[in-house]
Amino acid sequence: MRTILVASSKGGAGKTTLATQLAGHSAVAGKATVLVDADPQRSSTRWCEKRADLDTAVLPVDGHSRAFRKHLPEDAEQLVIDAPAGAMADDLEPFLEMADAVLVPVLPSAIDLEATVPFLNSLAQVGRVRKGKLPIGLVANRLKPWTSVSQQALEQLRAWPYPVVAELRDSQAYVLLAALGRCVFDYRSEQMRGHQEDFAPLFRWLKKHA
Ligand SMILES: Nc1ncnc2c1ncn2[C@@H]1O[C@H](COP(=O)(O)OP(=O)(O)OP(=O)(O)O)[C@@H](O)[C@H]1O
Ligand SMILES: [Mg+2]
Repeated sequence: MRTILVASSKGGAGKTTLATQLAGHSAVAGKATVLVDADPQRSSTRWCEKRADLDTAVLPVDGHSRAFRKHLPEDAEQLVIDAPAGAMADDLEPFLEMADAVLVPVLPSAIDLEATVPFLNSLAQVGRVRKGKLPIGLVANRLKPWTSVSQQALEQLRAWPYPVVAELRDSQAYVLLAALGRCVFDYRSEQMRGHQEDFAPLFRWLKKHA
């Protein structure tokens, strides 16, 4: 069972958006997929509930109590964990223990970049991260690629000690899909294919490192 932790202490960076898209991709690929929702806002859980009738449903599991592992089905092939805002590495210990990779979404603004640094520093203290055994990938989110603000933020991100594994665009598609319990991998339109391609480097990175 592969486990991906999506986390950042910074609120609103796109954790739930990324976690639901990754879980949707796995389910569409035919894998038994579980989305562990560790956020009291329960947005991931509601997303799962909205696609409960699909063949590509994703099982939501409440990640609040440490007993959440008991609720993981034995045949689960892919686990995605959606962490809450405000949680630093210490707070995420039970999830970090079982993670094969950590993805950290970051918005292209000075406020977000600066607020993410202490979180990444807290991750850097984790034993498996220090030993190079737990890969961390940055996901630049809500980019407006034609703007100098986005380009400068990307340049800054690329100078950080972890790789930028995906560059996701700012798009109403993500807002709509979240409301519908859907993901970009559920559709074949040209627009959705464009968003799917933005995830390709992330999946290549996961395949290689997680
Ligand atoms: N790439 C994107 N394009 C457009 N809107 C986006 C994108 N990613 C996220 N959003 C929107 O930004 C808002 C915050 O995203 P999301 O809820 O995924 O962040 P979060 O990190 O989970 O927040 P929290 O810290 O509150 O859990 C939501 O309204 C979401 O729909
Ligand atoms: Mg969230």
